[in-house]
Order: sequence, then C-alpha cells, then structure tokens
Amino acid sequence: MSEICVITGGGSGMGLAAAKYMPKEKVIVVSGRTLSKLENAVKEIEESGHKAYAHTCDTSDRNSVIELAEFCAGLGDITNVINAAGLSPAMAKQEQLLRVNALGTVYINEEFSKRMKKGGVILDVSSNSAYVLPKFLINEKQYALAETDEEMFLKKMIKKSNLAKSDYNKAGFAYALSKNFVLWYAKKCAKEYGKNGIRVLSLSPGLIATDMGNLEASAAGDMISKTAEKRMGKPEELGYAIATAADERNGYLAGVDILCDGGATTLARM
Ligand SMILES: NC(=O)c1ccc[n+]([C@@H]2O[C@H](COP(=O)([O-])OP(=O)(O)OC[C@H]3O[C@@H](n4cnc5c(N)ncnc54)[C@H](OP(=O)(O)O)[C@@H]3O)[C@@H](O)[C@H]2O)c1
Repeated sequence: MSEICVITGGGSGMGLAAAKYMPKEKVIVVSGRTLSKLENAVKEIEESGHKAYAHTCDTSDRNSVIELAEFCAGLGDITNVINAAGLSPAMAKQEQLLRVNALGTVYINEEFSKRMKKGGVILDVSSNSAYVLPKFLINEKQYALAETDEEMFLKKMIKKSNLAKSDYNKAGFAYALSKNFVLWYAKKCAKEYGKNGIRVLSLSPGLIATDMGNLEASAAGDMISKTAEKRMGKPEELGYAIATAADERNGYLAGVDILCDGGATTLARM
C-alpha cells in the first residue's frame, strides 16, 4: 500500500519546498485552487524523485476538502498531512482570511483524521503573527465556535479585527486571529486525535521569501530587523523544517507550535 503525503498549498512556496524533502517512498499529492500551478509543482516534485499528483481543492469549502481526502484515501494510506494553504492580509479581506486560514484548518484536520491510521501526522502551518495579539483578544471559548457555529465564529473574529483603523490593518488583525486560532486548534486536535495514534502540531514561520512573503515584505519591514540574521527566511529552509517535523521519525513531537522565524518573536521580547 502506498504511503500518501498530502500538501495543501503545495503548488508554491513552503508547501512545495516541503514536498521535496519528504522521504522518496511517499506519494505526494499537492493541492490548491489553481490547477496550472499544481501541474508545474508536480513536474518539480517528480524531478526530485517522488511520484506526485495534482488535485484541486479550496480548503475553505468542506465538500472540496472531503473530495480531496477521498481522492487521497483512494491512492493509499494517508500518513502525512501538511496544511500550508493560506491567504495573507494583502491577498484578501477579513472574512475570506478567516474562512481559509481558520475554518479551512478545521475542515482539513477533521476530514483527514477520519481517514488516517495510527502513526499518521497532521502539521498545520500558522504564522509568527499569531504571537503578536494582545492577550485580551484571545478567547478560546470563541475559537471553539469554529466547530459548532461557524457564522458566530466569523462574526466574533471580524468584530475584533474591526478594532483596527485601516482596511489593511483590519485584514492584518483577522490574519493574526486566524493564525492564533490555528495554534490553539492544532493543540486541541493533538489531544483528541492522540488517542487514535495521530500526531498533530503546528509550525509558525516568520517572514519567508515566497510569493506571499514577498507581497507582505514592505508592510512587515521591521520584522526583518528583529531577526537574528537580519534577513527573510528561504522557502527551502521552511520546507526542510516542515518536512522533518511532519516525518514519522519525529514521532514524539506533538501538541506544540514550532516557531521558525529567525528568532524575530523571541528577540523582540528581550
Ligand atoms: N511567506 C510568509 O512570510 C509567511 C509567514 C507566516 C506564515 N505563512 C503561512 O505559510 C503558509 C504557506 O504560505 P507561503 O508563504 O508558502 O505562500 P504561497 O506560496 O502563497 O502559498 C500559499 C498557497 O496556498 C494556496 N491557497 C490559498 N488559498 C487557498 C484555498 N482557499 N484553498 C487551497 N489552497 C489555497 C495557494 O494556491 P492557490 O492560490 O492556487 O489556491 C498557494 O499555493 C500559509 O499558510 C501562510 O499563511 C507565510
């Protein structure tokens, strides 16, 4: 039976970089909304020695996620799920950011965990933006609504993000909330799915030179000055960090967030 590693957002950036570092015996499924991007990614991944498939999916649509999960389960045992699909403040408004980054993570974790066996791993990509929110804005009871009352969850999060003045900052707030949600949700899933032998963790990149990172770089300029080496991260550095954290040989790494941001968050607090 083939071992399947599915990577949402695998058509570009860190997700694509991670694919190339996965063990060669894994069959890789890259997913995203744009088929042409995925087809190019498959070519690159196959050149690195893997068998790979492209399958479109919009992670903000549960039915689309179910369809992806069924496709993957039909190929073999789903052993690794890397959820790197995401949108940033320059790409979307508050609601869409929350739907993709937060609710998309719920759909991916729920639908894939049902189809995975003991020993599987789910890695959700968050962001170091998750660490910038003031404590009074973080409310886990409201986060729990994402599983029970999506519309109320969105309403509460959008209301908080409206505290910001400009449209870009409102989106920035919604992004930070969506990614802070991912930290909390990955820990919750680690506890719940751990009983079935499925390991869950999150990883929070800093500013990384992908399509998304380059788009956000001017707005996030002072983040670079806070890193230890005064530079953006490289997609391949994050790809390696993601692939090793999601590798079964790292089997005791669960219920944590790996902050991979060149030291920016830690150094800013010193
Ligand atoms: N780059 C940074 O500086 C940075 C920093 C912190 C966190 N992150 C996070 O890291 C992850 C990877 O981003 P990246 O930097 O590698 O950027 P990227 O190259 O833009 O990759 C993001 C991918 O997500 C896909 N995507 C977007 N919306 C989607 C949806 N609704 N359903 C399925 N796929 C969707 C995009 O493909 P389509 O548009 O074709 O769907 C794209 O391939 C994201 O979660 C991002 O929030 C990035």
